[in-house]
Parts: sequence; structure tokens; C-alpha cells
Amino acid sequence: MAGSRLPFPITLTGDGIVLREWRSEDLDDLVEMLDEPDIARWTPMPSPFDVEAGIAYLKRAHQGRVTGQRLQLAITADGGRPLGEVLLFGVDAGLKEAELGYLVGARHRRRGLASGSLSLLSGYARSTLKLSRLLLRIDPGNTASIAVARRCGYQLTGEPPILQVGPHGPSSLDTWELVESRSGSRLERLRNVAARRYGRRTSGQ
Ligand SMILES: CC(C)(COP(=O)(O)OP(=O)(O)OC[C@H]1O[C@@H](n2cnc3c(N)ncnc32)[C@H](O)[C@@H]1OP(=O)(O)O)[C@@H](O)C(=O)NCCC(=O)NCCS
Repeated sequence: MAGSRLPFPITLTGDGIVLREWRSEDLDDLVEMLDEPDIARWTPMPSPFDVEAGIAYLKRAHQGRVTGQRLQLAITADGGRPLGEVLLFGVDAGLKEAELGYLVGARHRRRGLASGSLSLLSGYARSTLKLSRLLLRIDPGNTASIAVARRCGYQLTGEPPILQVGPHGPSSLDTWELVESRSGSRLERLRNVAARRYGRRTSGQ
């Protein structure tokens, strides 16, 4: 990564998904999306998540973007209304390490949006930001998030669980890491599908 500031603004496109910067006019959609039981259960969002929380959230997101501290992008189908969010934060430029996170609005789940967005952002982090160690921190009870991680080529590391106390009582977060594999990740599977059409493989050779 050149310097330690993340690029702003950016748009990432691929796999039927457009990841774009948050806008102030997203407030109503943001509040509707984040004021929801699964978001309250599995993320550190305030609950209930009201308009005031939404304004503070967008302000913090904007600050994090202009200072280059984090990537925090709305998941959209076409650059329009937000359907979810994907993030990259906690960058350690020395270790070439960062953490990623994601959420999708209840009405838009089970359509591949989280896994598509995570693959897109992970690819960008690897190829453009040159970050080699990409991490997710997931509660072992969060089945949906674990399925997303696996589908994108992340694997459980042996790191000790991170203990925390939240409104739902004590919990622990496991660390997952994106691994280079011969054909494991969704990105590579897609590449190989494309490559097979031309009679060659792009990985594992
Ligand atoms: C986790 C979350 C982002 C998944 O979003 P999504 O867009 O529905 O996920 P995808 O459609 O990309 O699904 C990817 C995989 O997860 C599986 N999956 C999704 N939701 C699931 C669920 N509730 N139970 C079991 N599997 C699930 C899908 O079947 C798919 O698996 P496949 O590769 O075998 O087909 C969404 O449920 C959410 O926002 N949850 C609350 C916030 C959260 O937990 N964020 C992560 C914090 S670590």
C-alpha cells in the first residue's frame, strides 16, 4: 500500500455488484437496514438504530474515509440504493494486514451479496493495496457469516478467541484468514471457469 492512507473516493465493480461511497441521502435506507435483530445480535451497532444513530454513523464513515483510515462502502447492485455494507479497517501497513467486515439488509440476504462484496474487496485489498494478511473476526454462532467466509476462501486460524462482553453477554470471536489455495476461493473458481473456456487454468500450475 502506498503510504498508510487508504484511497478515497473509490468505486469497485464486479460480479453484478457496485461498491460505492456512502452518501448523506442514504440515511433512511441505512436506518432501515441497521435497525434489525441480526445486525444487533452479531455486530457492534447500537440497538435500536434510530435516525440519530444513522447520522452519527454516516458522519463517522465519512471521517474514516477522508482521513484514509478505513474503507467503508455501500453494497449496491448498480450504484443506487444501498443493500448492505462492506468494510476494511485496522490496517497495519508494516504487517500488510487488515480486518474486513460485512452486513446485508434483511430483505436482500441469500442472494450472494455478502460473498460477492467480500470477494471484491478482498481482491482489491490484495492486488491494489498489497495487503497480504486479510482477517475476519466472527462469533462461532454466526452461521451465516461463517458460510460467507468459507465461500470466499477464508479459513479459521489457530489464534485464540477474542473475548468480549456485549449486550448479549460474553462472547468470543474467532479469527479467519484469506488463504491462497489452488481452487478454494470464489474468485479463483470464477477465474478458472473463465480460463477453462480457453482451455487453460490460471491457478495451481
Ligand atoms: C452474514 C450476512 C452478511 C450474509 O449475507 P448474505 O448476502 O445473505 O450472504 P450470501 O448470500 O453471500 O451467502 C453466502 C453463503 O452463506 C450462506 N448463508 C447465508 N445466510 C445464511 C444463514 N442464515 N444460514 C446458513 N447459511 C447462510 C449462503 O447459503 C451462502 O452459502 P453457499 O456458498 O453454500 O451458497 C447477513 O446474514 C447479515 O448481514 N447478518 C448480520 C450481520 C453480520 O452477521 N455480519 C457479519 C459479522 S462477522
